[in-house]
Amino acid sequence: MAGAGLFIALEGGEGAGKSTQARLLAEALRAQGREVVLTREPGGTEGAEAIRALLLSTEGEGWGPRAEALLFAAARADHVDKLIRPALARGAVVICDRYLDSSRAYQGGGDGLSDADLRDLHRIGSEGLLPDLTLLLALPPEDAAQRLELRDRGAADRIGGRDAAYHARVAAAFEGFARTEPARFARIDATGAPGEVHARVLAALAGQAWRA
Ligand code: TYD
Repeated sequence: MAGAGLFIALEGGEGAGKSTQARLLAEALRAQGREVVLTREPGGTEGAEAIRALLLSTEGEGWGPRAEALLFAAARADHVDKLIRPALARGAVVICDRYLDSSRAYQGGGDGLSDADLRDLHRIGSEGLLPDLTLLLALPPEDAAQRLELRDRGAADRIGGRDAAYHARVAAAFEGFARTEPARFARIDATGAPGEVHARVLAALAGQAWRA
């Protein structure tokens, strides 16, 4: 475990419903009397939110894959150091909307950087801190496209706006992680209404040895 608390990450492609599920899970755990810190990446601290703006803005010429990976790792380092580790140390549950596996899926699967390099950046930046459990919200691309159309109305950010082939590589990378690292991942069917998906999330947590 990553300290006295509990560290849960939510991962998946665009439009999978991570933010909604993160919020519902936070409410459920707070109702059980737990202290919950709900946060997101890139972001979560002042410094990391500033890096987020640099990464996702659609102005300017953008970043190459290596610079992008370094910026995500730098944002994560600040987030881990200032928010996540202190919260875990005092026994809180940390729920994080995206974390390291997004770098592995987007900058690795999407952009072709090596998984070993991305893990090295994480070791250097954040001493390799991993969640106790990562929930992968899996949604067929047609469903995701429909949700995004409603949410973004054509105004996606710099990374969300990349082409379908890029997002297919990202989705395949996430599926590969869940298959090859089953001890770390719970794969959640993200189709259906938010309440149905939330019930699947709670069932996945109840199945864990440590219990939320
Ligand atoms: P965000 O709006 O937070 O995610 P979503 O679109 O899922 O609601 O945008 C974050 C974007 O950054 C998203 O396209 C995924 C991407 N990303 C990476 O490429 N690498 C990373 O390490 C992280 C954390 C996010």
